[in-house]
Amino acid sequence: MEAYKVQQHKYDVIVVGAGGAGLRATFGLAEKGLKAACITKVFPTRSHTVAAQGGISAALGNMGEDDWRFHFYDTIKGSDWLGDQDAIEYMCREAIPAIIELEHYGVPFSRTEEGKIYQRPFGGMTTHYGQGTAQRTCAAADRTGHAILHTLYQQALAHDATFFIEYFAIDLIFEEGKCVGVLALDMNEGTLHLFRGHAVVMATGGYGRAYFSATSAHTCTGDGGGMVLRAGLPLQDMEFVQFHPTGIYGAGCLITEGVRGEGGYLTNSEGERFMERYAPNAKDLASRDVVSRAMTIEIREGRGVGPNKDHIHLNLMHLGPEVIHERLPGIAESARIFAGVDVTKEPIPVLPTVHYNMGGIPTNYHGEVVTKLGDDPDAVVPGLFAIGEAACVSVHGANRLGSNSLLDLVVFGRAVANRCAEIVKPGAPHRDLPANALDKVLGRFDALRYANGGTPTAQIRADMQKTMQSDAAVFRTGETLKEGSQKISEVYSKFQDVKVTDRSLVWNSDLIETLELSNLLAQAVATMHSAEQRPESRGAHAREDFPDRDDHEWQKHTLVWIDEAGKSRFDFRPVHMYTLTDDVEVVPPKKRVY
Ligand code: FUM
Repeated sequence: MEAYKVQQHKYDVIVVGAGGAGLRATFGLAEKGLKAACITKVFPTRSHTVAAQGGISAALGNMGEDDWRFHFYDTIKGSDWLGDQDAIEYMCREAIPAIIELEHYGVPFSRTEEGKIYQRPFGGMTTHYGQGTAQRTCAAADRTGHAILHTLYQQALAHDATFFIEYFAIDLIFEEGKCVGVLALDMNEGTLHLFRGHAVVMATGGYGRAYFSATSAHTCTGDGGGMVLRAGLPLQDMEFVQFHPTGIYGAGCLITEGVRGEGGYLTNSEGERFMERYAPNAKDLASRDVVSRAMTIEIREGRGVGPNKDHIHLNLMHLGPEVIHERLPGIAESARIFAGVDVTKEPIPVLPTVHYNMGGIPTNYHGEVVTKLGDDPDAVVPGLFAIGEAACVSVHGANRLGSNSLLDLVVFGRAVANRCAEIVKPGAPHRDLPANALDKVLGRFDALRYANGGTPTAQIRADMQKTMQSDAAVFRTGETLKEGSQKISEVYSKFQDVKVTDRSLVWNSDLIETLELSNLLAQAVATMHSAEQRPESRGAHAREDFPDRDDHEWQKHTLVWIDEAGKSRFDFRPVHMYTLTDDVEVVPPKKRVY
């Protein structure tokens, strides 16, 4: 491996990823006097947070009564009682100062007549523990992620943090069980870099691109999850994949839940507002798992729209051009470009589309990565942190409520900075690594660079995406999951035969896509195998052969390890059913009523 010259950089903390979570962590660290570097494969303002539309939740009560305890209750209920209640309490309480902080940073939120931050209703968000509808989702029209990401990047630039842009993180480096750095490729220069840190924060986003149709950007390849699996650590709750009810039919682009929050509704081929049958109270604003299943049933039972009866209509014509122009300008444009629809005159053709990974790198509410060690289910992995969609805190449990994701990014991005400030001493020296410390990761990198098999990366990727789309879908059965597990393991094995045609290191997109595919594949296997081993229905994991939630046996987090051959091993962690303070009661498991 001497052939590779590796430049070394020493920082107090390394953040990998520059979306909402990564940026909030990066300038939070700098604010605390830590020397922080953020490495990112895309320019920060191109991170996928930019695509978030509808808003960010917080019980501000600007547009009616609200309380963070109602938000806490809704999040636990939405998670189908798989969320960790200490972390949920932390997030819902911190939501209020977090939004005020964003406002002070300069996020251009939409405003009420009195000048307060505008808040819209979103699915599963209620008042008085399910009695009323909450207006809790703070919005900047329907471009909230864009507004927040740009503001956070401005803040990051105002602080003393260093950005390494268009650097692809290859693997984590561990020494005596502690994470001590990350190896990355400067895609522009074609040079390798070892970033040393006393803490490394994975803020690398989700792995939506394991599926064929996803609202996620093509960059959402779960690079952090892939690195963590290769480091011999587990991922958590990978069976829970959220389908957003309203992806544009055929294109997959997101149409925000904010459309239904503003009064839009779904109809079938009979023009019926069918959600009234499935969720008489919440109707179109039931949580996403419920709406996605209802739409799938309508299509299956022959009441889909279009020549093939294979999608559903989302109606917002009745809102009128003024409301659409003011509150939903972005989706009007997306619908015009990607569906050829004028939303003031026609419904948008939509279909449930993969949107969010509830599973990921297990952490506690400080963002510290945890694993199960002996009898300790909450053992902290020294030096390693994870935040945002890459992580499984777990505040979303089996199903995330819309607008809790942007919140998760900023709350836990900040939490990680606070934790690092407690445990990392600014300027502490780094111990020299043994001479062979990089051999394994460089060996893998070199093998992929020169991979000379018979199957192009794109073909293996297409096989993976097709398998995930058909066998890890909205509805699952033991049979489809068994078949899916076998198929995805076969696809995983095909990677042994991958062919990379470009051998250079400068802007080698063939190599980068292959490294990304390797990350995706491990998480595709983790998802399918985890789904097969959970014989119950909970949140987004809907088993037709086990239609009920089984709290007695299965109210627990799945941990999955994937070895080099693609074999999975499972263990479990208990759900945290306790809170941080006595201000909220632990909510007992209940059957979900909508
Ligand atoms: O529908 C949306 O605007 C998406 C929001 C979210 O996933 O939180």
